[in-house]
Amino acid sequence: MIPYRLISKKRGGGELTPAEIGQLITAYLAGDFTDEQMAAFLMAVCINGLTPKETAALTRAMTASGEVWDLASISGPKIDKHSTGGVGDKVSLVLAPWIAACGVVVPMMSGRGLGHTGGTLDKLAAIPGFETALTKQKAIRVLKKIGVVLLAATPGIAQADRRMYALRDATGTVESIPLITASILAKKLAEGANGYVFDVKYGSGAFMVDLPAAKTLAESLVKIAQSAGKKAVALLTAMDQPTGFAAGNACEVVEAIGCLQIRRPDDLYRITRALAVEMLILAGLFRSRVRAIDRLEKAIDDGSALDKLRAMIKAQGGDPRVVDEPLRLPQPKCSQPLRASKTGYVQKIDTCRIGWALVELGVGRKKSDDEVDLTAGIILEKKIGARVIKGEIVGSVFGGTKSKLKVVSDEISASLVIGPTRKKPAKLIHSRFDGRRWTEA
Ligand code: URA
Repeated sequence: MIPYRLISKKRGGGELTPAEIGQLITAYLAGDFTDEQMAAFLMAVCINGLTPKETAALTRAMTASGEVWDLASISGPKIDKHSTGGVGDKVSLVLAPWIAACGVVVPMMSGRGLGHTGGTLDKLAAIPGFETALTKQKAIRVLKKIGVVLLAATPGIAQADRRMYALRDATGTVESIPLITASILAKKLAEGANGYVFDVKYGSGAFMVDLPAAKTLAESLVKIAQSAGKKAVALLTAMDQPTGFAAGNACEVVEAIGCLQIRRPDDLYRITRALAVEMLILAGLFRSRVRAIDRLEKAIDDGSALDKLRAMIKAQGGDPRVVDEPLRLPQPKCSQPLRASKTGYVQKIDTCRIGWALVELGVGRKKSDDEVDLTAGIILEKKIGARVIKGEIVGSVFGGTKSKLKVVSDEISASLVIGPTRKKPAKLIHSRFDGRRWTEA
């Protein structure tokens, strides 16, 4: 394998063979394909794309670059969900225990906040004692006992992706659908589930703002996962405004717990339930959506979903009392109201801007080694379509310091576009892709 030849083939728009892609990743891990050469290759991919066959080969090679878990010793269907991320996206916290209470085994590897989007691991860090840096042995023990585990990808998983992702971040090559597909799937396929539901977000707070780009990513994820022998389906869901009312870390844990009790906020509940139905069907536990919904409703009514959350928190070293006593979560020292800048209707929300304001507040990181402020966040009560009056309180911002709160609250108020007519939010659950066709969800 001569690195120069593979790079120039891709630069010229040629198609690499699966063997060539396999050799490239092997050589990269062995130090025979340098970071400079990989950066050039990634740029060539960013510009010329990859065919589905190349994307599948890259995904395979990246998955095989680290350990691949075998969960065969755990009985029951193993299904996971992956979200492409957004602001206020606390779905995993609600979904994982809920679906586990219905008999699905959920080995869920999650990430930290990325760019303007929040991360499940950061939210879980708000639960006192909760441990996400688990070894494979410990994760499997928790899965066998409780049926659900939420953890960080172990250092052994998808070694090539770790280095490639850092290079992409530094060379402006993150925004490539085949590279995003291979990066996400390399980690997901390594965790050993039988099937995956992808929650692909579209709208102002998503990485794929436009519907067509989000659809292309969804198709790529589902088809490549299926070509790797996994069951897979994708839902396109709205991220034109934060999901729920809370965006932050501890405040999102509180909202997620509430959702398993009172089925509110409505958007969070509906997105989570739609994904849960897909997971129950992929798991082979139900064929009928109506029956799957009945089962899910029962797990909320009889308290078993909430019990599963308590059991999972306990098994991962956390304090399960937070479920019933949310004041045990880290509390902010200061807060400030958010006010409407004019009278009218909230027509649009610049959700990405809100996400960056939250990073400024300390909810996320500016540098990879920054500490996050677990107490910081916002509650945004007025969302798209709501009528507001100039000066009216539309929510609150908390955490950080008083001076920071002022800057961030101005930024968040400016993210709300207020106009004279009522506008509708984007369709919450837009559509569903099963590998062959798109249907209304
Ligand atoms: N998340 C990942 O894991 N990889 C990407 O490339 C983008 C989002």
